[in-house]
Amino acid sequence: MSVADLPKIELHLHHEGAAPPAFIRQLAHEKRIDLSGLFKPDGRYDFRDFAHFLSVYEAACEVLKSPEDFRRLTLAILEESAANGVVYSETFLSPDFCGGGDLQAWCDYLAAIQDAAVEAERKFDITLRGVITCVRHFGPEKAKASARCAAETAGDWITGFGMGGNESVGAQGDFKWAFDCAREAGLRLTTHAGEFGGPESVRDAIRDLGVERVGHGVRAIEDPDLIREIVDRDVTLEVCPGSNVVLGLYPEFAAHPIARLREAGVKVTVSTDDPPFFHTTMRREYEMLAQAFGWGAEDFAALNDTALNAAFCDEETRARVKTRLETP
Ligand code: ADE
Ligand code: ZN
Repeated sequence: MSVADLPKIELHLHHEGAAPPAFIRQLAHEKRIDLSGLFKPDGRYDFRDFAHFLSVYEAACEVLKSPEDFRRLTLAILEESAANGVVYSETFLSPDFCGGGDLQAWCDYLAAIQDAAVEAERKFDITLRGVITCVRHFGPEKAKASARCAAETAGDWITGFGMGGNESVGAQGDFKWAFDCAREAGLRLTTHAGEFGGPESVRDAIRDLGVERVGHGVRAIEDPDLIREIVDRDVTLEVCPGSNVVLGLYPEFAAHPIARLREAGVKVTVSTDDPPFFHTTMRREYEMLAQAFGWGAEDFAALNDTALNAAFCDEETRARVKTRLETP
């Protein structure tokens, strides 16, 4: 059996970013929305760099305008993830793209997404949980609205709160109110840092927002003191190697710091981020890591174990997923 066939846990997946281009084109066609310019002639998403990626991402979101759109999207994503061996996934959901931060609208979107997750669990044997995510470049006020939606819908399905978006805008500490609000509602915390920001952005994320997981965080490798702090504080990194390579942080998998982070004792996990944008899947991430670093079944079992322990789900779900991992 190839390592790519192993069951997998994914902790870092943006819901809209997982939308296949053909799915977005189909919705655009149904709604008569012109999305020309978003796709390459071969049908893939077309972007030049990180800032352009974010704007193409948001333009694609223009066709996702109803709970029913998100129900269909959720089913499509989970079918694809399950086909790649994912048995448990945490997805980033942004009230900004689901009703613009209005609580009642958000509840309607969430109901449709959960409905699809129940159907997918039955059909494809994959478990999904939601992490509400504010968007950094939309600013702290929008983040507060997202945090209020998160606090109102926190529970055994919405289990976490986080932040994505453009790291060059503002500071992690600008979002403290939103993260404190989410924490008080019992939500677990993660934020993107150390992707385009340097090691100091990871330090800010841990110290100013008190997150227990960091999205990417890979540039921490540039600062040995920070590595020690990450290990001491038991922070887990949601590493997305294929995303980092396509966005130009590293020229190839073999140059990616995931193996060095792991050797330094950092808890690392593997995810796809926005798979169709980065031409990847969880299968491909496993294949590329096996090829670049010679990792075998034991290494991937260890990564999955780290991911299972860092998952934001309740203990009953964790135990169920553990059984799934042990019986491929
Ligand atoms: N939103 C979607 N993908 C992202 C990424 N890789 N970094 C920051 N924000 C994002
Ligand atoms: Zn991300």
